[in-house]
Amino acid sequence: MAVNIIDNKLFALHTKNASYVLGLTKEGLVENRYWGKRVDELSDFSDISSSNQTVNVSGPQLYREECSSFGGMRFKETSLKVTFADGVRDFRYRLAEVKAGEEHLELVLQDICYPFAVHLHYHVYEEENLIKKWRVLENRGQEPIILESVYSAEYGLSGTGYETINYKGRWGAEFLAHSEPVEAGKKVYESLYGLTAHTVSPFFLVHKHAEETKGDVYFGALEYSGNFKTVIEAVNCDYLNILIGISDTDFAWTLHGGESFETPAVYAGYTSDGFEDMTHTLHHFCFRHMMPQVLAEKPLPVLYNSWYSTTFDVQCEEQIALAERAAKMGVELFVVDDGWFDGRNDDTAALGDWYADEKKFPEGLQKLIREVNALGMKFGLWIEPEMTNENSRLYREHPDWIYRYPTREVLMGRNQYELDMSNPEVVDYLIGLFDKLLAENNISYIKWDMNRYAAEMGSANYDKSQWKELWFRNTQGVYRLAEELRKRHPHVEFEACASGGGRVDYGAMKYFDEYWPSDNTDAYDRLYMQEWYSYLYPIKYMRAWLTDDFGMDQRKIPLQFSMYSAMCGSLGVGTDLNKTSEEQLETLAGYIEIYKQIRETVQLGDLYRLCSFRDGDIHAVQYVRGEESAVFVFLDHERYGNSWYNLKLRGLKPEKRYCFELNGKEQSKTGEFLMNAGISLILKGDYDSLLIRLKEVK
Ligand code: GLA
Repeated sequence: MAVNIIDNKLFALHTKNASYVLGLTKEGLVENRYWGKRVDELSDFSDISSSNQTVNVSGPQLYREECSSFGGMRFKETSLKVTFADGVRDFRYRLAEVKAGEEHLELVLQDICYPFAVHLHYHVYEEENLIKKWRVLENRGQEPIILESVYSAEYGLSGTGYETINYKGRWGAEFLAHSEPVEAGKKVYESLYGLTAHTVSPFFLVHKHAEETKGDVYFGALEYSGNFKTVIEAVNCDYLNILIGISDTDFAWTLHGGESFETPAVYAGYTSDGFEDMTHTLHHFCFRHMMPQVLAEKPLPVLYNSWYSTTFDVQCEEQIALAERAAKMGVELFVVDDGWFDGRNDDTAALGDWYADEKKFPEGLQKLIREVNALGMKFGLWIEPEMTNENSRLYREHPDWIYRYPTREVLMGRNQYELDMSNPEVVDYLIGLFDKLLAENNISYIKWDMNRYAAEMGSANYDKSQWKELWFRNTQGVYRLAEELRKRHPHVEFEACASGGGRVDYGAMKYFDEYWPSDNTDAYDRLYMQEWYSYLYPIKYMRAWLTDDFGMDQRKIPLQFSMYSAMCGSLGVGTDLNKTSEEQLETLAGYIEIYKQIRETVQLGDLYRLCSFRDGDIHAVQYVRGEESAVFVFLDHERYGNSWYNLKLRGLKPEKRYCFELNGKEQSKTGEFLMNAGISLILKGDYDSLLIRLKEVK
């Protein structure tokens, strides 16, 4: 049974491998008594407490609370702060109601003086080993209540000695991970960019000496793409407190009488089997519950994107010529990036004017789309819906549709302004516009970009007393636009891009079919980025392109290494095909053909991070799906004449026999052998690489 309750005082949430146990303190506060490996006998938890009695502190600070609130002898960062109409700023509650179903638990915390309640919601995904948590804050009275801090969830882990991991990214260097112990004070991961952005990601990942295949790992991902905040605090009462939710740095929400506010959800889990098990748990869950289901189980097509070939200089005939060459390689989706719409010749103009530029496309987009379709490919287009330029028809007609402070000159990012997506009229306008674009043209894919961070959150549409609500309202506006377009065009594939990987999160996953993880396509850098990306986010969502040499790092890497690096995700090509010889086209076609044969295994299979450049000379990832497996191995530089490596595989069936080709020889070994003794590889020189394909023998 996923939910077990004793006397409305003890509550257990069980997944297949873990238990999450709550109880009431003697003051009636909801506390976390246990989070770890599954323990079925709930009564054993009845006489324990989350508080460490040896600590010289009194009051709620002692407890690992499920809903700590500002005030009332708490000196840590708390998960809720409200101001009642009379200025009182703490929340004192009693557990007023318990609602439980087979997989759901709701605890209603009612303030003892004020008509205000916090609903703690839990949904247990027993098989998937995850628990969803979120909160609903309800004003049950007449007078307004100001919400100042509304985290989605709180988690307490007993004891000390934990390490926390998150990214330390930036544009072109997304998903580089950083790990550090939290022995004292707090570690805050926060986005104030108006979206998830490139630096840190909306999740928590805390562990104790965990490794890839062993060790305790606690993790949770927030379903939100706006300003978020994660606080990991070593509280002076022998526990680690974790808060995750909407950032409270510039947040205030007026909850009028009778209104409720629902926070984004967090999907959290525990494993004793290390990071690999965490990854598998999250990846499986994403396929079943997070991704738009229409395309979830379908592998993504191989795409060609002409951005790096033509940048803003998009011309119909030239695009047709590129499409012809792309088709020869076996590309399935041809994408025109930025530069196709009215007056867009550089990044200073035209955002918002989403009509084909008549000079570039005298017959509209139709001609190009027809040609692309006739070549057997689908057609895709780049848009940046949330933006406008000063030099655009949209801005000239609606100067009040952007975020701005009335007395200030509006600041620019990449020469552009951010549309006020908190204004329903703006969102409705965009729905109409893009619906028409998709209805009138045979467009199968949209790359939805977002290239400036948010600032100056003032809106002509809201009273200034509500401006701290705009960050959240903006994200809701973005979701509404995406949701409506998806509803009207369910078969269109949507890619989330924000100057590269600025919108990679579980909130975006509900509306998009893939991410563009980075504008950095250097095959070697990408291996590092792809590795840490894969901890939380699914491989299918990781678009990876082959591009020309001398990109971001001015580095020349052999084609096979670059191609294999891109084939570790959902393959795309962005090289300048005008400069590609017929012979090179044929070579590329060969790789694309191989990729098509293994893509279900790569995109939909289980990932095993076998070894990493962070720890040694070679880097290897393995994908397993059903009877097939694909292993990519990379060497950056040969060292001291050493070219032999032993590699142990994972995820195979020990008793089965697998055939594969290696070192020019057909071989057959048992899963047991391959996983324990391993295979011997030869890799030499600079940037060598291998692809090994294994198939179960019947
Ligand atoms: C952003 C994206 C790129 C490309 C350009 C076009 O930088 O991340 O992939 O689409 O915009 O302007």
